[in-house]
Amino acid sequence: MGWGKQELISATGGKILRDGKQMAFGEIVTDSSKAQAGSVFIALKGERHDGHRFIGDAVRRGATCVILQRLPKKIPAGEAAIIKVADTLRALGDLAHYRRAQIAPKVLAITGSNGKTTTKEMLAAILEEASLNGKRLRGRVLKTEGNFNNLVGLPLTLLRLREDDKVAVVELGTNHPGEIQRLAEIADPCGGIITSIAGAHLEGLRSLAGVAREKGALYRNIRVDGAIAVNLDDPWVRRLGANFTGRKITYGKRGSVRALSPRLRGTQGMQFKLQAGSHAAHVRLHYLGQHNISNALGAAALALGAGVDLAAVRRGLGKARPFSMRMEVDQWNGVGIINDAYNANSASMRAALQTLAELPCRGRRIAVLGDMFELGKHSAKEHREVGKAAARAAIDGLYLLGKQATTTRRAAVAHGMRPEQVMIGRNHTDIARQLRQELKKGDWLLVKGSRGMKMETVLHELKSGKA
Ligand SMILES: Nc1ncnc2c1ncn2[C@@H]1O[C@H](COP(=O)(O)OP(=O)(O)O)[C@@H](O)[C@H]1O
Ligand SMILES: [Mg+2]
Repeated sequence: MGWGKQELISATGGKILRDGKQMAFGEIVTDSSKAQAGSVFIALKGERHDGHRFIGDAVRRGATCVILQRLPKKIPAGEAAIIKVADTLRALGDLAHYRRAQIAPKVLAITGSNGKTTTKEMLAAILEEASLNGKRLRGRVLKTEGNFNNLVGLPLTLLRLREDDKVAVVELGTNHPGEIQRLAEIADPCGGIITSIAGAHLEGLRSLAGVAREKGALYRNIRVDGAIAVNLDDPWVRRLGANFTGRKITYGKRGSVRALSPRLRGTQGMQFKLQAGSHAAHVRLHYLGQHNISNALGAAALALGAGVDLAAVRRGLGKARPFSMRMEVDQWNGVGIINDAYNANSASMRAALQTLAELPCRGRRIAVLGDMFELGKHSAKEHREVGKAAARAAIDGLYLLGKQATTTRRAAVAHGMRPEQVMIGRNHTDIARQLRQELKKGDWLLVKGSRGMKMETVLHELKSGKA
């Protein structure tokens, strides 16, 4: 959707410095290399780059309007309109808010320390199956792509709204106080969820109470006729929810939305009975792990609060899929595989090992673990934790790769694994070769490590047979 000059000015409160030739423009871009004939280029000042240096580039590529906060030494020649604002980042948010108000979709916002992206994907999948006010939503659901959840990503997401979009599912992220408040002002949500409160981003937000105060801004900014989903299993979220005076849908063990008789279905994922008030539905999920049941319940609660029926919740949850390498289930020659190689810290290592331990398995449970990075002085301690967790989970075989492998191995053996059960690989190929000889039909394999360890390579080599 394009923009009129007057719209740009009234939405941002900017001043025209050069009128230019055009009255109407195309899409808004912040990356000059994306500018096309008729684009509006907003010059953002980021940590590494200053968009004001790329104004000339944007204009050369065809931008016919430039929004800036500081006049460059050399004003670009040509006919592009120039609008000056006090703060271009704020202007970007204001323009997104303007578009959001104009198209008026139902906006559902997701924040929290963990599980935002997963909950967002599950909720969007539910909405694709749903109808609101008698109209099917399929194809009219906008969602945040990837991790576009900050003061640049959220506006760029909302600016993608099309005229016939009926719902927008947006992820809100934060690492500084005040960010969620501003993001919520931009999105003006009709519904919201805080998935959990945990100790991430403590540099900026100081304490758990600081994290709670920051994320609590989402609930404080929900429209009066909206509804929130409240995770009763998280004490901080429960407290934040208690202060909300509007409509609430609670979820968790004692929530009005809860999961009964959960069961692991191996390479098929999980299933459970979704109880929502006095109604129930059987849900199948292509995800593994207890935390994904919580994410599914949250997505269900928010959808139900927005007026979606339970049948659509069931269908949508059954269609949602994990992203590649995030607890992705797969199989190879009758061996079940959990590919969680995207990233790792000791909490997610423990959760993944626990999932491996609980899976129904006829053969042996084997974990291939690479080092965890960015742990600073805690590195040895955290790797010992992982070794201990592997032993506690009664893993039958452990293959380790990385500088901390000996530390992990020692802890695993100290906590009960037999030395011959714990192998240290020389490299990915070496581990793949050992696995090819070792693995039998019915075994389960977990592969995980920090991104830099590229543990997926073990799987590629195993499957390609090169090893
Ligand atoms: N509800 C949850 N509680 C705790 N950990 C979770 C939860 N959901 C996901 N995780 C963990 O966080 C990782 C990232 O999940 P993701 O959905 O991308 O979260 P976010 O968008 O908040 O970073 C997952 O691989 C998993 O290990
Ligand atoms: Mg995310």
